[in-house]
Amino acid sequence: MFKSDGSLAVRSATSVSTDPPSLYSGQSLGRYELLAPVAKGGMGQVWVARLRGARGFQKLVAIKTLLAVGEDSERLERMLFEEARIAGLIQHPNVVQTIELGEEQGTLYLAMEWVDGEPLSYLLTHCEQTNTGVPLLIAVNLVGQLLRGLQAAHDLNDASGESLGVVHRDVSPHNVLVSYSGVAKLVDFGIAKAMNQQVNSTSTGEIKGKFAYMAPEQILGNPVDRRADIFSAGIMLHLMTSGQHPFKNHRSIGVLHSITNNDPAARPSLLKPGYSRTLEAVVMRALEKDREQRWASADEMRLALQKAVPEAFAVGIDAEVEAFMTATCAERAAAKREAVRRVEQQSDTRMAAARSLAKAGATAQSASSLRAVSVDTSVIDEQEPSRPSFVPTLQPPPEPPVKTVNRRRPLVMGAFIGFGLVAALSVFLRLRTVDHGSHSAGSGFVQLAPPSTARVRLEASFPAPAEPATSDSAAPPSAVTEPARPPNVPPKAKAKKVRAKTHSPAPSNDLIAPDYAR
Ligand SMILES: Nc1ncnc2c1ncn2[C@@H]1O[C@H](COP(=O)(O)OP(=O)(O)O)[C@@H](O)[C@H]1O
Ligand SMILES: [Mg+2]
Repeated sequence: MFKSDGSLAVRSATSVSTDPPSLYSGQSLGRYELLAPVAKGGMGQVWVARLRGARGFQKLVAIKTLLAVGEDSERLERMLFEEARIAGLIQHPNVVQTIELGEEQGTLYLAMEWVDGEPLSYLLTHCEQTNTGVPLLIAVNLVGQLLRGLQAAHDLNDASGESLGVVHRDVSPHNVLVSYSGVAKLVDFGIAKAMNQQVNSTSTGEIKGKFAYMAPEQILGNPVDRRADIFSAGIMLHLMTSGQHPFKNHRSIGVLHSITNNDPAARPSLLKPGYSRTLEAVVMRALEKDREQRWASADEMRLALQKAVPEAFAVGIDAEVEAFMTATCAERAAAKREAVRRVEQQSDTRMAAARSLAKAGATAQSASSLRAVSVDTSVIDEQEPSRPSFVPTLQPPPEPPVKTVNRRRPLVMGAFIGFGLVAALSVFLRLRTVDHGSHSAGSGFVQLAPPSTARVRLEASFPAPAEPATSDSAAPPSAVTEPARPPNVPPKAKAKKVRAKTHSPAPSNDLIAPDYAR
């Protein structure tokens, strides 16, 4: 798979099923509520999600779920576990913080801090397209931040104080997120390993990581240590300060060859007249083919960088990096935030509708106990009992005590309640169609959109909720995962009605931008 920046991920054609798990906007995973997918990576899909706490507390988080199913899922689950294990140990502002590894109904997920920003790969592409380039001080500062994060990872010890010898092994612009406030954070420890482990050549023939940023020893399958990450950081530093990849202008095989042969990297000063010699010395040492000649640690490289370009670390540089981010992606940031806000709003409205429906259901139940409201059992369908229903399953409030009843009053009351129930149901359905999709066979989850359409959509204005549906193709809205449904209100009955009323295709809430695509 080729990428715009020349990076490459090689995987055997048959090894990975790309069927996404049946996740949908509004779905609960543990204490999180999925809002919208933001990126699809090599091993999983990343969602912006909402953590709900007590008394209305809420906070955005990122949730990474796995994409593959079948035989590959076990291997990917192991990788996600390893990622969580390693990343979860790191506490550093320049490393994306891991919150937890969770599992819900067979879906393993990694919860992380939400980085309100962009991958460095996006910034590079943007600057290339606009012919602006990343200003030197900003580039050096960002690499300096990355080196801090790397050092924190490399410094990890086990409980007895022994170094774990962690190597990230996939340091590249896609795996460095830069917040809109200018903080660079290393992410994706998906193939990080302890020292002396081989390049991950799996039984399925997959070699993971991006060759264009890989150290020669890693490409060649030799043992790697932290200096492999230094090499990758060196490539990024070279690329961002000279405007060219040090092993560039090759097809992928050329990049591999250039990295693994004995020729030194192209000197930045040859590519960019006036390039600082002291900075060049830092870059070239990071790019030594023989790792013994490289900087021994991320800190060593960062200190050299600091000496070579002190202005890039001066007081006040943070504000400059932030200003660069604002200049580069203010519009995009605003659109993204607005999109997230809208998804949150939709979800809130849906929840409110679910609650009122549940309340109405409870009242209906109460009334039916007076034999004033009859439940139409003809609409009950044959859905498997295990399959979650769209019917909101909020706990009904306790039944009010029944007093003496006027014989005619229940009928009138019943009519009102019935009307209320239908109205609430239709509001709920109307809103829920935003997350339309079909029940996926085994899981009972509702899909947001077919995999092929699960791309792009970073729009300033979000599509309005769909009109009430009419076709069978769209699935009933998902259950908002909540406590038990009101007794005596058969969920199946509602499911049938919804099928009759929902229609396809409703807008998806995907926030996946083309830049992220692998
Ligand atoms: N914590 C996060 N906050 C915001 N976006 C994130 C976060 N983690 C990942 N992403 C987005 O998802 C993309 C893929 O994430 P990554 O962890 O690299 O997964 P993969 O292993 O699939 O490459 C990133 O490039 C970034 O765009
Ligand atoms: Mg990644």
